[in-house]
Amino acid sequence: PSQPPMVHYWIPFIGSMITFGMQPMTFMRKYRAIYGDYFTFLMFGRKMTVCLGVDGNYFVFNARHSSVNAEDAYNHLTKPVFGEQVIYDVPNSVLMEQKKIGKAGLTIDAFKRYVPMIIEEVNMYVDEFMNKESDTIDILKAVSEMIIMTASRTLLGEEVRAQLHLGVADLYHTLDASFTPIHFLFEWLPLPSYYSCKEAHSELHGLFRSIIDNRRANNEKKYDDMLHVLMTSKYKNGEPLTDVQVANMLIAFLMAGQHTSSATTTWGLLMLANDHSLIDTTFAQMKEAMGEELPDVTYDDLKNIPMLEHIVNETLRIRSPIIQIMRKVTQPIPIPKTHYVVPAGHYLVASPSVSSTDPNYFPDPEAFSPLRWESSTVGQSASGGNDDTAGEVDYGFGSVSLKSARSPYLPFGAGRHRCIGEQFAYVQIRTILYTLLKKFDFELDPKVGLPKPDYNSMVILPTLPCLIKYKRRS
Ligand code: HEM
Repeated sequence: PSQPPMVHYWIPFIGSMITFGMQPMTFMRKYRAIYGDYFTFLMFGRKMTVCLGVDGNYFVFNARHSSVNAEDAYNHLTKPVFGEQVIYDVPNSVLMEQKKIGKAGLTIDAFKRYVPMIIEEVNMYVDEFMNKESDTIDILKAVSEMIIMTASRTLLGEEVRAQLHLGVADLYHTLDASFTPIHFLFEWLPLPSYYSCKEAHSELHGLFRSIIDNRRANNEKKYDDMLHVLMTSKYKNGEPLTDVQVANMLIAFLMAGQHTSSATTTWGLLMLANDHSLIDTTFAQMKEAMGEELPDVTYDDLKNIPMLEHIVNETLRIRSPIIQIMRKVTQPIPIPKTHYVVPAGHYLVASPSVSSTDPNYFPDPEAFSPLRWESSTVGQSASGGNDDTAGEVDYGFGSVSLKSARSPYLPFGAGRHRCIGEQFAYVQIRTILYTLLKKFDFELDPKVGLPKPDYNSMVILPTLPCLIKYKRRS
């Protein structure tokens, strides 16, 4: 057995950090063409073994926890943002239970209640900030605000939403600022953003704790949001979550969904604005499903407008917000069907974005063509489709079992770390798209055109400015 080939580098220690960091997709495609699906590169002293293709995805997502784990790869990055005792700051078995509890707050019943709340929040935003006949706005900024408002209102409950105007949104932004590749690499560097992040975390944590205390004090009032689920759930051993865990899980869920959903919604709108025929097709389908007057959608209506789902699928295919999934190797691990063994201490990097833009699976892969999903069997979407040829591993997260999919399309990951927010994200994004498309027509700002992806953050966003011109429909 041998180790996967090493990408050549000139600068010791730093290795390929700069070339990878600036254009990670180009880097991975280039070395895949040279070395095949498995190769290692050096990045600031860390050995990163890239695992590509459907088999590479499967290898990383389904590797045994005893050989490979996520907490050693991510905790130094996520702990300052999420806080202690949650997600990667607990043993994996506890994370599995925390995800199961979280999933219990993300039910179809909950989504049915959330859709009108999301619509109300979008309408409030539009009335205040998009109230002209036509104007040019930064769509990433607008969408990020809508995602904060809608997620806070639905997941965190009415008290948090009521405080958002009091600067809570700014605390979210400060926390976000610590979620960058720099913080992944320089875990020991006292970056200023690290300290402001700690402060923002403790302020937000304090706010959530006071809401928890208030709810306990007035326990006759009924709530049906995520906070209520977290406050009333128990671990398998019968213990409730600590208040620290309840507050920090709220923060973690919010952060997990904020940039990912904002990026997806923004790219979706930018892609539509770049190809007006797609807006026409979607608008026609909305009218066909809902009638000329286009009343507000409900959860059940959304499935009658498949274009909305195709748009989200396609956006996640070519502009997935998460292009690197990382694990740390703790025991030497052989790569199936090869003679390679990855030594302990390496990091594994999977990139489903490489397989979802591979022409072998998706013809004309760079083209944004939502209609390709009309006949596709590859999708894994809110409606539950998933091609799984590898058998099912149910980690017990509730209504939809999580699958160990062998698939080129895994924007929400697979296996034990698979996303629990997928269905929520689909509901939130489709509802926002419907509500905006109903009111506005969009086109790109001709001076800026379609922005390029910005690889300087952990979650890939479009490069600013993301200018879009809206025109109110008559
Ligand atoms: C995990 C993507 C929205 C909560 C993940 C993973 C991916 C992902 C790729 C796997 C990470 C890994 O294996 O290392 C996305 C995308 C989203 C989205 C593309 C939106 C379009 C959300 C939302 C929530 C959420 C809205 C919360 C309500 C989580 C949680 C995990 C996760 C708790 C599990 C982490 C783990 O087990 O290690 N997500 N996510 N996500 N996501 Fe999401």
